[in-house]
Amino acid sequence: MDNKPFELANPATGVKSLLPVRAGTIGPQVLDISGLPKDHGVFTFDPAFGATASCESKITYIDGDAGVLLYRGYPVDQLAAHSSFMEVAYLLIYGNLPSAKELDTYRGSITRHTMINESLLRFTNGFHHNAHPMAMVSAVVASMSAFYYDSMDIHDPRHREIFSHRIIAKLPTIAAAAHKHALGQPFIYPRNDLAYCANMLNMFFAVPCEPYEVDPVAAQALDLLFILHADHEQNASTSTVRLAGSTGTNPYAAISAGVSALWGPAHGGANEAVLDMLEEIGSAANIPKFLDMAKDKSSHFKLMGFGHRVYKNFDPRAKIIREMCHKVLAKLGQTDNPLFELALRLEEIALKDEYFVSRKLYPNVDFYSGIIYSALKIPRSMYTVMFAIARTVGWVAHWLEMISDPAMRIGRPRQLYTGPTQRDYVAVAKR
Ligand code: CMC
Repeated sequence: MDNKPFELANPATGVKSLLPVRAGTIGPQVLDISGLPKDHGVFTFDPAFGATASCESKITYIDGDAGVLLYRGYPVDQLAAHSSFMEVAYLLIYGNLPSAKELDTYRGSITRHTMINESLLRFTNGFHHNAHPMAMVSAVVASMSAFYYDSMDIHDPRHREIFSHRIIAKLPTIAAAAHKHALGQPFIYPRNDLAYCANMLNMFFAVPCEPYEVDPVAAQALDLLFILHADHEQNASTSTVRLAGSTGTNPYAAISAGVSALWGPAHGGANEAVLDMLEEIGSAANIPKFLDMAKDKSSHFKLMGFGHRVYKNFDPRAKIIREMCHKVLAKLGQTDNPLFELALRLEEIALKDEYFVSRKLYPNVDFYSGIIYSALKIPRSMYTVMFAIARTVGWVAHWLEMISDPAMRIGRPRQLYTGPTQRDYVAVAKR
């Protein structure tokens, strides 16, 4: 790739200088502007970071025009077809696919960290019965920083590893506790004889008074969804984890910040919002009315589950999940699913509409995922929590990558100030 430096002229002095151009292993070239303030006395203005690479990373690659998503170089569709969530977690965090022994050891360690301190359960039970589970999960994750002082030295690689196992292992337990609290049912302890997703389903749906069999179809579907949600390079929540983590705060605090960022409807909260929207649309006859609303800039209504900052083509994850919907609904005997039918029809109509075509707005990962969660009887308020459990792997991988970089500095964006210039204070009686 041609790394020809980019010529930049200083408008005040006319002096020309060269900006270094950096090339990744794939993807567009990147102008290195880090020397601009020192060499030219200027900053760049890029609200919402549409044109800014905030860091160097080796974890995930997206080609938004081609609809490509690679985890450590492996196409997500290959991983979805052949891998497991635990294997993908290992891949994202350690950088390579594990050997059979490495995978076994990793699974074993995650399994043995699934219990949470009973005090954390009491925190969950202190919430009001109708608290949103994302509020509970972000609070309980932040509270973990008050429990694991034995392994919170961010400069110790072994401490960082123990943290990474703990958080990935305990997130499903924390989520299940939130779910059971909302239902008013007793908490179900983790079972170490079950795999990651099966254990989670058991904690969600078992009750102490009768046996419960985890449906392998449900466990497999969840595992696949988790693979697809595991990482997505520098999205809003991952960037939040990096920014919080760059201050040197403990990793539980950083992950809790990520959970909060994920909650918004423009990000992970969209999966819950899509189902609300489909229910509101109600029938195919109402689709044009809702599309008109989505196009009307004064309405604040957006077609949830559509559009993406990076994908200007089909989100590859949405394609896989749409196929998965057909298979999972068939296996669960729910072929006649009116919300899925409506979603398919909405996609078909939107993708023929000039507004969506010209802006390259396609279904994203959140458009179909809620259909599967609802088929698995996971309550709607838990959908974004499901996303958070899977994305924790990505957050951890990015936090580890950042913290282990000796060149790490605190993240500190600048601004274009447009407020008042200096003025003198006037006493209140004279105003
Ligand atoms: N419905 C209607 N119009 C849309 C939509 C939508 N869902 N998404 C984008 N647009 C319009 C937008 O108004 C803009 O129009 P114009 O050029 O006339 O001003 C144009 O398309 C370009 O969009 P943008 O605002 O520059 O896009 P963005 O990169 O800032 O935002 C997004 C990306 C995902 C936040 C946005 O598409 C959106 O709000 N989608 C709905 C919420 C959603 O599904 N979020 C999940 C994202 S994927 C998973 C995840 O990140 O968690």
